[in-house]
Order: sequence, then structure tokens, then C-alpha cells
Amino acid sequence: MHKSYCSSLDIKNINKKVKLFGWVNNIKILKNIIFIDLRDKTGIVQCFIKKDQKKIWKLAISLTIESCINVYGKILKKKVYKSNINLIEIFIYKLIIYNYSFSLPINIHADNSEKIRLKYRYLDLRTTKMFNLMKMRSKIKYLVHNFLYKHDFLDIETPFLSKSFPEGAHDYVVPSRIYKGMHYSLPQSPQIFKQLLMISGIDKYYQIVRCFRDEDLRSDRQPEFTQIDIELSFADFKDIKLLIENILINIFNFFKGINLSKCFSLIDYKDSINFYGTDKPDLRNPVKFNVKISSFLKQYFKNYLDILSIVLSYRSSDDIDNCYRKLFSYLKLYFKCDLICIKIISFKKDKYIYKLYGNTLFLCDDLIQNFILKYKLCDKNLIFLFFLKEKILPNDFNKIRNFVCNLFFLFKKNDYLPVWIINYPMFYFDKYNNIKTFHHPFTMPLDYNNINNYTNILSKAYDLVINGYEVGSGSVRIHDYKTQCEIFRILGISCSHNSRYNFFLESLKYGAPPHLGIAMGLDRLVMLLNNIENIKDVIAFPKTTSGLCLLTNSPD
Ligand code: AMO
Repeated sequence: MHKSYCSSLDIKNINKKVKLFGWVNNIKILKNIIFIDLRDKTGIVQCFIKKDQKKIWKLAISLTIESCINVYGKILKKKVYKSNINLIEIFIYKLIIYNYSFSLPINIHADNSEKIRLKYRYLDLRTTKMFNLMKMRSKIKYLVHNFLYKHDFLDIETPFLSKSFPEGAHDYVVPSRIYKGMHYSLPQSPQIFKQLLMISGIDKYYQIVRCFRDEDLRSDRQPEFTQIDIELSFADFKDIKLLIENILINIFNFFKGINLSKCFSLIDYKDSINFYGTDKPDLRNPVKFNVKISSFLKQYFKNYLDILSIVLSYRSSDDIDNCYRKLFSYLKLYFKCDLICIKIISFKKDKYIYKLYGNTLFLCDDLIQNFILKYKLCDKNLIFLFFLKEKILPNDFNKIRNFVCNLFFLFKKNDYLPVWIINYPMFYFDKYNNIKTFHHPFTMPLDYNNINNYTNILSKAYDLVINGYEVGSGSVRIHDYKTQCEIFRILGISCSHNSRYNFFLESLKYGAPPHLGIAMGLDRLVMLLNNIENIKDVIAFPKTTSGLCLLTNSPD
């Protein structure tokens, strides 16, 4: 007899004999019958034993919750009082107890604190919810392997014990036993090795691979996480875009039954910052800053440090007075600013009729008429103008955007809206005024010939953002020695013969092909597909936000 799973049994199998393995989810001992809810990774089924089955009865009454058992039984139609619904139950004719369980330190049927869930993760993983998440991870990997294999990509492992490369975070280091005082570094990503594989002539590489980064953790960051890592030669961004979009369309269709748009939208980094205040815009929030209106007004109101504007369409049911007041109170908590709202009501006799909210003394009718006309605004438009008396951070723009979105109930909750962010700056200055690359230093500058004016140049990097999460990131790579040396020089990385990265620079001297690639965060993909905001929930054995493994008590 084959092993069955709880969720595979149904009414069609009445009278069939089955062999089940699992845990006692619940046990009810009545006068003449014992009910055992048997749980396995797929679900729960009710089993029973009758009083006249003396041997089994004696065993069954000794059971504790979460004991591990094996049941041989027959599938019967469950008798449900005054109901005809088709449920089944299992009549047990043989019972084997593998192991009794002490009472659990965690309640697997209720919410538990994160601390307790991580300490007893092996019990937390017994729940169907966690099992389903692990199953999804595994299935995504299977789909990706299948897809890429069919498209002639080779799955090639790259070393974990390697060298430190300039990729942005700190490395985890592994001391060498043989070479005292020397260390290997765990890879932050297989970046260098996948580029070396391109130089080897393997023009389509992929790997679903663990990466290790010692950096400040957030709700979407873990020190070890999994990337779907891809690199290809003799291709361009269009090819990567199509490939990744097809993978994601398949995944979202398979798990959510959702058809993502056939061609994801593209936004310039600069526009993303101007319109959304972030390079990870959550497009489910449709509120956008109107840059044109802002620059128009800035000519007239030079005493303000910045002016922002948002144009919405209002509904007749919107209580604008109330919204204005709520928004103004919110702004006052965080920023020094004046807020004006213009509600366009109609257009009569060559003039717009509108209503103003806020301290409107400094906005004259001519100016308002002028910009309504100039920017083709219309009745039913509502314009919020934020006159800032202090500079605010781009991220604060995003907060204002979110507040306005919630105020007017505009959030498209069940949508998935992917967007590619392109044309990133090549460099930025960190808080210590050190020059850094926005992506890694192997990214190709957009304007090859203008590298001397390097602080303003853009790069051929691209990020894929879905619902505010950076799901993937990649770039066209530098494939010539001279440009790579130049970028290293700008970053203050030595290019001399005995420098740390000379082996890589040298590899570019032997006919390196043009290549590009991307890496997608598998964990973030699973978070998105399940609307989960905490990355720890989608990883079997995660670390706490302070980098501890509470299960094994490491590091130690
Ligand atoms: P990047 O560093 O942007 O690029 O990483 C690629 C993607 O990996 C995911 N990710 C993470 N997920 C969980 N926890 C983390 N700490 C974490 N860090 C990154 C994100 C991110 O978009 N080598 C380059 C890729 C390339 O250029 O091909 C790289 O690793 O989803």
C-alpha cells in the first residue's frame, strides 16, 4: 500500500485502504470512540477508533498532542448530523506510534512571538501556512530551472570560499586553517565569477544561489538570501527585459492566476525621483508629483525652498474640506510648509471657476487661470500645492504621496505593477564625501566617451521594482580593460599588477565579449506573491534583524 497525504483523500476513494503518516493535531476521547485529527504537511484528516478495538484503543488513549504516528485505515463517508455534505473520515485498523511529544513550547494553531517562532523554527515549520510557503519557493525554483534550461542557459556553481570584491556591503569572512591570518570571503553575489564565465565563452549562465552580506538588516533584507542570478553575452537590455518579464509572467500566472502586463513599463531614475520621490515606486499608489507645475510656480515664489504639486481627479463624494484639513495637520507634524488646494469646478465665459482652500492670499486669480490653462487641467481636477519652507528628503516626498493616496482611497490593493528603473547615475557621494558607484563598479557607463566629467554620468544599470520592492537589479558590464581601469581609478581602487583585483582586470585582456546580466531576489519574490512584509517569514531558517540565529544560538 502506498503512502497517502491527508489532502489527497476524497469521497471518490470511499472504502479504499490508506496508509497515513503525521502528527496528532488533536485527540478527543469519548465513551465509545476516540477521534484523532491527523495532520501532515498537506492538511488534516479526522480518524477514529472504536472501543471494541481493544489493542488499538489502549494505544490511542496514551497519545499526546503532536505525537508522531502511522495510521492504516479505511476511508468512510463522514456522518454529519442533518447534512449531506461529502466529507470523509478514516476508520483506523492499525496504529503505530513512532514518538510521543512533550507539550509544545509554541502554539502552532495561533500567532506566536517572532522570538519563539525562530527559536523553535522546526515546529513553526510544521504549520500548513509555512509548508505552503516552502513549497512555493521550491516550485518557483523548479519553474525557473525549467524555463532557463529550455532557453539554453547553463546552471553553473561558483565558489563560496573566495575573495572580497567591491560590491557595496561588508563581507562575511572565513579564516583559513592552513594559511594562518588569511581569510576567504563569502560572496555577496557571484558577480565576478559570472562575468568570468562569459569570458570563458559560456554565453548563457544562471544559478539559483545563496549570497552573503553583512549589512544593516531591514524587513526585506537577510544576511543570507537567495538570488536567481543570470548573465548573458552578445545580448542587450531588450533581451534581458523580455527574458525576465516572461519568467515573471509565468510565475505570477502560475501562483496567482494574474496576467502581468506583456511589456513592463520603464521609468528614468530621475523621473522616478521627481514623480514618486523614490527609485522604488509602488505604482499601486497612482499619486504623482507634477514637476511642470512645480517649476512653473517656483519662478514666482522664490522665497520657498521647494514647491511640490499633485493633481488628482476628485469625485463628487469627496469631502475636500476635510481632506485638506487632515493633510495639513499631517504635514505640520513633519515639515514647515504652506498648503493650498485648488478645486476646479467648471469653465464658464473663458474662465475657470474654482474653490481655494488654505491661506490663499499670495495666489492671485491670474496666476491660477494661467497655470490651469497652460497645463491643460480641467474641471474635476484637484490641485494640491505644497510650498516648502525647508528642504525635504526624497523619501519624505513618498510619504506625502502615500498620505494623499490613502486620503482619497486611491490605492489599487490587489494589483501587481512592475516597472523597470533605468538610466541611473553612475556615481554618488556618500556621507563621508567618498565617491561610490550606484550599482557595482563593473557597470558600464552610459556615455563611454565622456568619462572625464564623471560625477554627472549615467550608467547602463536597471532595476526591476514591483509594488515598491526592488525585486531585481542588473546592468550592462564593462568588457574592456581600459574603461574598467578608469572606473577603478575614479573609485580609488588600485589597478597595479599586484593589486587585489588584477586577476579580473587581466581577464578583460583576452577577448572579453560584451555581456550583461541581472539578479532577482527569490525571497522578495515569495514575499510579494504572498503579500508578506517580513522576509523572515519566507525563509526556512532566517536570522533576526540583529543577525542572530535563535535556533542554534549563533554566532558563537
Ligand atoms: P543587488 O545587490 O542589487 O545586485 O542584488 C540583486 C537582488 O537581490 C536581492 N537582494 C536581497 N534580498 C534579500 N536580502 C538582501 N540582503 C538582499 N540584497 C539584495 C534584491 C536585489 O534586487 N550582482 C548584482 C546583480 C547583477 O548586477 O547582475 C547584485 O547582486 O532583490
